[in-house]
Amino acid sequence: MKNSEIAVRKNEAISRGVGMTTQVYAAKAENAEVWDVEGRRYIDFAGGIAVLNTGHRHPKVIEAVKKQLDCFTHTCHQVMPYENYVALAERLNKLVPIAGPKKTIFATTGAEAVENAVKIARCATGRSAVIAFTGAFHGRTFMGMALTGKVVPYKVGFGQMMGDVFHVPFPIELHGISVEESLDVLDKLFKADVDPKRVAAIILEPVQGEGGFYEVPRALMKAVRQICDEHGILLIADEVQTGFARTGKLFGMKLRRQPDLMTMAKSLAGGFPLSAVTGRAELMDAPGPGGLGGTYAGNPLAIAASHAVLDVIEEEKLCDRANQLGGRLKQRLEALRADIPRSPTSAARASWLPLSSARPVRPSRMPTSPTPSA
Ligand SMILES: Cc1ncc(COP(=O)(O)O)c(C=O)c1O
Repeated sequence: MKNSEIAVRKNEAISRGVGMTTQVYAAKAENAEVWDVEGRRYIDFAGGIAVLNTGHRHPKVIEAVKKQLDCFTHTCHQVMPYENYVALAERLNKLVPIAGPKKTIFATTGAEAVENAVKIARCATGRSAVIAFTGAFHGRTFMGMALTGKVVPYKVGFGQMMGDVFHVPFPIELHGISVEESLDVLDKLFKADVDPKRVAAIILEPVQGEGGFYEVPRALMKAVRQICDEHGILLIADEVQTGFARTGKLFGMKLRRQPDLMTMAKSLAGGFPLSAVTGRAELMDAPGPGGLGGTYAGNPLAIAASHAVLDVIEEEKLCDRANQLGGRLKQRLEALRADIPRSPTSAARASWLPLSSARPVRPSRMPTSPTPSA
């Protein structure tokens, strides 16, 4: 089978709306390496878009899923619940950096986690407006898309966005936008467009992923937390991409600036579809029974995988390893600064890039043949 032959079939069979970065079709994968259908081997720097912080097919993850496969694959937690769902919620409640009693729900995708976080915030506050930042990515569902701070390609042609969503410029020094300017726009937004007492939540990624790997400046995080406290607005940290050792800590949020609700997905279950919202217990309990959930939400195979992922991150000290690799990359990038003044040397970028596989990779040769194009 050839990549180019499948690419022709793909064009016939699949909507062009599903954009693809490569036309290299995967045949197998192991840790940080993938092989295509023509037998070429690649080092995987994408990790399925930040999903494989524990690498492809980590033996412990595979073992846990196989064990679960032999028991049952689906009952729907709302119909016939299972203990490992409860246990994973207990684990996340302990790990997520939010003070006091916490509760968790599971869903399937990152976008669904965002949808649920907004639903919970609206229900708990009785308010409807939500504020997000330009450049942010929060998913492709209607609320996720509305919150996403990028029109092309995510909103083009999809008509009217969800109402009561506002965007504030994300401060990026490189682009000449300061924290003060961002906060000034937020202030003007409160004066011109939306009463802060009508705002349910402000949502942000601790490090913007799709937006270009920009960390939220400390001053902004501090100010946003204060503004939330002042007006009774909830702070949602979207950790779908920053979670699970990717930033050198289990989560991107700093302990001092805690969110009220946190969304997680991607590396939460090492390649199995699982997302979660964890938050202050009284907020999480605002929606009535039946208001949250879903047929596949918290699928038992993904839950089993997630338990193994959390074990691996701890046992293999993957946060330390992320810091080591990030430090090395940062050093190399700094060395390039003289030649490339705009080289991506921010700490956030440096600690993110090497995490396609956090496990040590066996030394091996790079493929000599070029990547075939469609
Ligand atoms: C920060 C953030 N939120 C939400 C999402 C949406 O996740 P999913 O693609 O699983 O719906 C993404 C995906 O890239 C993301 O990076």
